[in-house]
Amino acid sequence: MRTLADLGDLRGRRVLVRCDLNVPLTRDGSGTRIADDGRIRASLPTITVLLERGARVVVCSHLGRPKDGPDPRYSLAVVAERLGELLGRPVAMALDVVGDSATRMVAGLGDGEVGVLENLRFEPGETSKDDGVRGAFADRLAGLAEVYVGDGFGAVHRRHASVYDVPARLPHAAGGLVLAELAVLRRLTEDPVRPYVVVLGGSKVSDKLGVIASLLGQADRILVGGGMVFTFLAATGHEVGSSLLEADQLDTVRGYLAQAEQRGVPIVLPVDVVVATAMSADAEHAVVPADAIPADRMGLDIGPASARLFAEQLAGAGTVFWNGPMGVFELAPYAEGTRTVAEAIAGLDAYTVVGGGDSAAAVRALGIDERRYSHVSTGGGASLEYLEGRSLPGLVALEG
Ligand code: 3PG
Repeated sequence: MRTLADLGDLRGRRVLVRCDLNVPLTRDGSGTRIADDGRIRASLPTITVLLERGARVVVCSHLGRPKDGPDPRYSLAVVAERLGELLGRPVAMALDVVGDSATRMVAGLGDGEVGVLENLRFEPGETSKDDGVRGAFADRLAGLAEVYVGDGFGAVHRRHASVYDVPARLPHAAGGLVLAELAVLRRLTEDPVRPYVVVLGGSKVSDKLGVIASLLGQADRILVGGGMVFTFLAATGHEVGSSLLEADQLDTVRGYLAQAEQRGVPIVLPVDVVVATAMSADAEHAVVPADAIPADRMGLDIGPASARLFAEQLAGAGTVFWNGPMGVFELAPYAEGTRTVAEAIAGLDAYTVVGGGDSAAAVRALGIDERRYSHVSTGGGASLEYLEGRSLPGLVALEG
C-alpha cells in the first residue's frame, strides 16, 4: 500500500481525501449539532500533512444515510465548520458533490487550502450496486482532483464509488489513519497477547453475528452485553419482556452457544439486567435477575452484578477488544454498565482496543480519558468485517 510519503511533490496538486466524517448529530429547535467530533479529530493529521505539503485539499465524506438525494438534515456544512475550528484555518464548503459549486470551489483553492464537498450520499451513484452507475459518478468525482488519498477507515468495508472506484482512476495512497487502524487490527488478529477477551454490545445482533463466529476461533472469552444480549437470553430459553429481540437470529445464536461450548470458549452473559417501563430516563426502572425479566419491562442495561462479573472476567487479560456499549448509556439510569466495563478496561495493564463509533462516543460522553486505552478506533462495521476475515473493498482498492 502506498503512503503519503510516496506521493511526491504535492505543491499545487489537487488531492481528493476520502475521510469518514460520519459523526453523530443531535437536532433540536436551535439547529443541528455534532454530538461527538472524534472522527473529525482523527482525520486532522492526514489533512494537515497534505496542507503542509502545499496540496489543494478536497475533503469528501458521507454523513448518515440520506435516502432520496440532497437533504439539508445531512449536509456536511456543520462538519466543515468544525473542521475549520479544529484546523484553525478557513475551510471552503461546496453546495453540491460534483456539480458547478464543487467545480468552482475546487478551482478556487490555492496551495495549502482546503475545501469540503457536500455529502457523497446525496448522489445515487455513490452507493449504487450497478457498476456502470457507480463508475460514471466515480469519473466525475475523480475529475475534480489529480491524486486520491483513502483515509476514511470507517467506510473501507463499503463498495462505494468514493471508496472503491475512485482510487482505480487516480494515483493513490493510504492516509495515516487507515494505516494506524490496520496496524491495530493486525496486532489483534496475528498474535494477541493472551488471554484475549472480547466484549461485544450494541444493538445490532445480525451485524455482529459473523464476527462472533470467527472470534470463537480467536478469543479466549467473549462477554456479551448491550441490546444484543436479549437475543442470547431468549436463545437460552429466558423471557425477555419487551426488550430488543431479533427473533429470526435465535437459531443462529443457539448454534454459536453450542459451538462456544464445544471449543471451550466461554460466552459470558449478564446475570442481572436494569429493566424499565419505557426507554426514557424518567421511566420506572429496577434491577432484576437476567432470567426473571417481567413480561411488561424492557432491559436497558446490564445490572451491577453483571458489570462486576464482566470486570472480573477482564482482570488479567493480555488483549481486549471492546465493541458496543453495554446499555443505553445516553440516558443516565442505564449508563452504569457501560461505565463499569469502560473503567475496568481502561484500568488494565493490557493491549486495549475500543472499536465502533458508539463505544468510542460512550467513552468520551462518560468523560473517560481516551489515552487510558491503547487505541480508540474510528471503525465500527469496518473493524468487525476485518476481524471476520472479510476482504474490504476500500483496502483492496488502495492496494491496487
Ligand atoms: C460507520 O458509521 O460505521 C461508517 O461511517 C459507515 O457508515 P454506514 O454504515 O452508513 O455505511
